[in-house]
Amino acid sequence: MSTANTNKYTVGETSSATSTPRKRPKCVKRTISVARVEQMLEEDRKERRNAPDKPLHFARDSLFSSSSGYTNYRGFLNLAILLLVLSNARVALENIIKYGILVDPFQWVQMFVKNPYSWPSATLLLAMNIYIVVALMIEVFQSKGRLPDNIAFWLKVINMVSMILIPAIVILRINPNPFGACFACGFHTTVFFKLWSYHQVNRWCREEQIKRKRITRRGSIDLSLYRSGESDSDTTKSEKLVYYPENLTLKDLYYFILAPTLCYELNFPRSRRIRKGFLLRRIVEMVFLSNLVLMLTQQWLLPTINNSMQPINSMNFGRMTERLLKLSVPNHVIWLICFYCIFHSSMNVSAELLRFSDRQFYLDWWNAPTVSDFWNRWNMPVHKWALRHVYRPMLRSGLTKLQAAVAVFLLSAFFHEYLVSVPLNMFRVWAFMGMMLQIPYAVMVAKIANVDWRLGNMAVWLSLIIGQPIAILMYVHDYYILQFRDKQDASV
Ligand SMILES: CC(C)(COP(=O)(O)OP(=O)(O)OC[C@H]1O[C@@H](n2cnc3c(N)ncnc32)[C@H](O)[C@@H]1OP(=O)(O)O)[C@@H](O)C(=O)NCCC(=O)NCCS
Repeated sequence: MSTANTNKYTVGETSSATSTPRKRPKCVKRTISVARVEQMLEEDRKERRNAPDKPLHFARDSLFSSSSGYTNYRGFLNLAILLLVLSNARVALENIIKYGILVDPFQWVQMFVKNPYSWPSATLLLAMNIYIVVALMIEVFQSKGRLPDNIAFWLKVINMVSMILIPAIVILRINPNPFGACFACGFHTTVFFKLWSYHQVNRWCREEQIKRKRITRRGSIDLSLYRSGESDSDTTKSEKLVYYPENLTLKDLYYFILAPTLCYELNFPRSRRIRKGFLLRRIVEMVFLSNLVLMLTQQWLLPTINNSMQPINSMNFGRMTERLLKLSVPNHVIWLICFYCIFHSSMNVSAELLRFSDRQFYLDWWNAPTVSDFWNRWNMPVHKWALRHVYRPMLRSGLTKLQAAVAVFLLSAFFHEYLVSVPLNMFRVWAFMGMMLQIPYAVMVAKIANVDWRLGNMAVWLSLIIGQPIAILMYVHDYYILQFRDKQDASV
C-alpha cells in the first residue's frame, strides 16, 4: 500500500476522498448518479479497509440522534412488556401475601340465590316482553290504518317511558342485589334503544310506502360472497326478501331484539352457515374471561377499593392520589378484559348463532388521536344508533353539529347515570358529569392532537385510565357511607 494512500485519510475523514479524481458525465440521470456514488463509496471503503493502520473510524451518527435515521426500538418494547409483567407479578404476590386467596366463586352464587323465591331482576327481565309485544301491536295496527298516527305516537311514548320508569321504580322500592338490578336496567336500556329504532324505521317505511306502492330494500348479502365480489344470487335464493309490512311479526322483532345491533333493518346481512369452530372459541373465551373478571374483582379490585375509603374520608389528598393510581391498574385491566369479552366474544357468539354477518362491533379505538374519534370507534352499536336515530335527524332539522352532539351526549349521560344510580339506589351525578365533560375535553384534546397525534392518543388513554377509577371511587365511597348510615340508624 502506498504512503500517498495513507496520508489521504489523515486529511479527509469522510469516505468521499479518493486518490484518483473521477470524471463525471455532465448530464446523467439521477438513478445512474446514485449508483455511481454507491460504487465510489464502496471502492473507497475497500481501499480504506486495506490501509496498513487498519482504520475502524467512519463518519457516522449515534443511534439516538434523529439524524441517524434509526427507528427500530422493538427491543425496548419487549423490555417494557417484561417490566410490566414483572411489576404486576410483584403486585400479585404482594396481594396474595397480604390478603391470602380471596377468590370465592360461591360468594357470587350465594349473592344471587340468597332468597330463591325473590328474583325481582329476573322478573323484570321477563316482564320486558310486554313492552316488546305492545310495540309490535302498535306497529301492526298502524300499518293496517286502524290506529291514527297521533294516538300511535303517544302510545309508543307511554310504552317506551314505562319501559325505563317501571324497572327503576321497582328496583328503588325493593332494593334488590345491585348486580342483578344493573343487568335488568342494562337490558331495558338496550331494548329501549332497539324499539326506538324499530318504530323509527317502520315510520320511514310507511312514509315511503305512501310514495311508492312497495318498498324494495337491500337484500340479504352473504358475507363471503360480498367479500369475493360475487353476486348474492345463492343467498337471495334461500333468503326471501322482506318488505314492509310483512316484517311486522314476532319472529322478525325477536330476531332484532336478540341480534347484536341497536339499528333495525328489514333485511339484515346474513351469513350462510354457523361456523362451529369459531363459535366454540368465542364461547370458551366468554366463559374464561367472565370468570377471570370475577376473580380479579374479588382478589385485586375490591381490597384496593376498601383500602381507599379511609384516605377519602379523611380528605388526605396525597394518600387519595396514591390510592387512585393504585386502583387505576386493576380497574383498567378489568375494563380491557370486559371490552374483549363483551364486544368481541359475546357479540360474536350471538351474531354467529343468529347468522348475523355485520360484525363491526368496534373499530381501532386504541389508536384514536382525539376523544371524538374514540367515541366514533369504541362502541359501534351505540355510535351507529346515535348517528342514525338522533344526530343526523337533528342535523337535518336544522340544528348545528354542536347542538346535535350535545343532545347525543345528554342522552348517553342520562343512561350512564340510570345504569349506576338506580341499581345502587342512590342519586349522584358522577356518571352524568363524566359523559358531559367529554365535550369540553374533546375540544381540548383535538387541539393537543393538532400539535402531535401521539399526545392526543395519550390524552385519550389517560382519561380512560384515570377518569373511570375517579367515578368508581366516588360511587363506592358514597355507597359505603349510605350503607354505614343505614346500619347505624338500624342499630339506634
Ligand atoms: C355525537 C356523535 C354521533 C358524533 O359523531 P361524528 O362522527 O363525530 O359526527 P360528524 O359530525 O363527523 O358526522 C357524522 C356523520 O353525519 C353526516 N352529516 C354531517 N352533516 C350532516 C347533515 N347536515 N345532514 C345529514 N348528515 C350529516 C356526516 O356526513 C357523517 O357521515 P359519515 O360518517 O357517513 O361520513 C358521536 O360522537 C357519538 O356517537 N357520541 C356518543 C357516543 C356514546 O355516548 N357512546 C356510548 C358508549 S358507552
